[in-house]
Amino acid sequence: MEKMRVGIIGGGLMGREAASAFGRWFVLDDFPVQAELVAVCDLQEKLLDWFRRVPTVRLLTKDHQELLRSPDVDVVYVAVPHNLHEKMYLDVLAARKDLLAEKPFGIDLKSARTIRDAAAKSGRFVRCSSEFPFLPPAQRVIQAVQAGKLGRIMEIRSGFWHASDLDPTKPVNWKRQVKTCGEIGVMGDLGMHAVHVPFRLGWKPLRVYAQLQKIYTQRPDGKGGTAVCDTWDNAMLHTEVKIGNDEVPMRLEMKRLAPGETNTWFIEVLGTEGGVRFSTKEPKTLWVFERQKEQIWQRIDLGHQMAFTTITGGIFEAGFPDCFLQMWAAYAAERAGKLGNRFGCVTPDEAVLSHKLFAAALDSHAKKTAIAL
Ligand SMILES: NC(=O)c1ccc[n+]([C@@H]2O[C@H](COP(=O)([O-])OP(=O)(O)OC[C@H]3O[C@@H](n4cnc5c(N)ncnc54)[C@H](O)[C@@H]3O)[C@@H](O)[C@H]2O)c1
Repeated sequence: MEKMRVGIIGGGLMGREAASAFGRWFVLDDFPVQAELVAVCDLQEKLLDWFRRVPTVRLLTKDHQELLRSPDVDVVYVAVPHNLHEKMYLDVLAARKDLLAEKPFGIDLKSARTIRDAAAKSGRFVRCSSEFPFLPPAQRVIQAVQAGKLGRIMEIRSGFWHASDLDPTKPVNWKRQVKTCGEIGVMGDLGMHAVHVPFRLGWKPLRVYAQLQKIYTQRPDGKGGTAVCDTWDNAMLHTEVKIGNDEVPMRLEMKRLAPGETNTWFIEVLGTEGGVRFSTKEPKTLWVFERQKEQIWQRIDLGHQMAFTTITGGIFEAGFPDCFLQMWAAYAAERAGKLGNRFGCVTPDEAVLSHKLFAAALDSHAKKTAIAL
C-alpha cells in the first residue's frame, strides 16, 4: 500500500486536529493510501511535548527547515498564523514536498498569487483546507445541484458563523489583529469555508457588494491590559453569479459575532422545482424541498454516509473530526490519482479566487458600491 508520510508545521489547534485524523486512519475502509504522521514543528515546548504521545512521530523540532530537510516527509500540513503562510508554503515547495495549506492560503491576494504560481512551477501537489463540505448532508447538497433537479436556481446562501467573540472579556489572539490575520479579517478566517462548495459548483461571483463590521475594537490582552482588535468581525457579501442565462443572487456570510452560533456552517440552494438546505446546527439533517401539487420541505436524518467509507456504523452521526479525516482522505486519494468523481479539496486557483473576492469586498465596503470581479 502507498504510504503518505506527513510532517506538520504548527501544532496548535489545527495541527493537533490533523494528528487525530492520522491516528485513526485505519477506520477508512479499503483505502489505497496509508497516512502516517512522522514529524512536527512548533515553537512551543508544551505542544511538542503533546506530540510525544503520538508513537509514529520521529522528529520534533522548533525549526521548520529541519523538518523540511527530513527525507522521511512526503507531505507537509502547515497550520500557522496567516502572516507566516507565504514564507512557510514557499519553503515547503522549495524543499520539494507536497503541501496541504491552511486557509486563507496567504495573508492577501498578492500573497495567494505568489503561492499559487510557485505551486504550479514546482509541480508539487498542493491543496488548501476546507472540511465541512465532506459532511454527508453537505455532500447531498452538492449531489442535488449536480443532478440538475432543482429547476431554475433562484438563490444561494452559504456561510460560516461563530459566536464566542460576543463575549467582550474573551482575550485577544493573533486572529483579531491585521498584522497577523490580514486586512481581510473574518473573511480570511471563515471565508474559504463559505466559498468552497459554490466555487466548485461553478458559481463564481460577477460582482460583490460587501457589508463589513468591526464590532469590538479592543479586548483584554490576557496579561491584565487591553489590546487593539483591528480586523473585520462580520462580513456579508452580496454577490451575483451566472447560472445558464440568469444572474442569481448568492449571499456569503462570515461572522465572528453571530448570537448563539458556536460553529455553524450552512448552505442553502433554492430553485423553482426543488431546494436543499443544510446547517451544522442540525448536524445530521438534510432539508429537501419539492414543489409538487403541494409544496413540501422534507427532513432526512443522515448517518455516516461518507464519500470514503469507514468502519463506523451507517446510523452513527458524523462530526467535525470525521469531516476533517474525510478531507485528508480526499487529499491523499487525489494525490495518488484515485479521487475519481469524488469531491476534492480547495485548489490553488480556487484559493486565489477567494482572495480576489475578499479584496473586492474590502474595496466595495470602502466605496459603498458594488465591485465587479
Ligand atoms: N480548517 C479549519 O477549520 C481551521 C480552523 C481554525 C484555524 N484554521 C487555520 O489554521 C491555521 C492555524 O490556526 P490555529 O487555529 O491552529 O492556530 P493556533 O494559534 O492554535 O496554532 C498555530 C501554531 O503555530 C505555531 N507557530 C507559530 N509560528 C511558528 C513557526 N515559525 N514555526 C513553527 N510553528 C509556529 C504556534 O506556536 C501555534 O502553536 C490558520 O491558517 C487558520 O486560519 C483552520
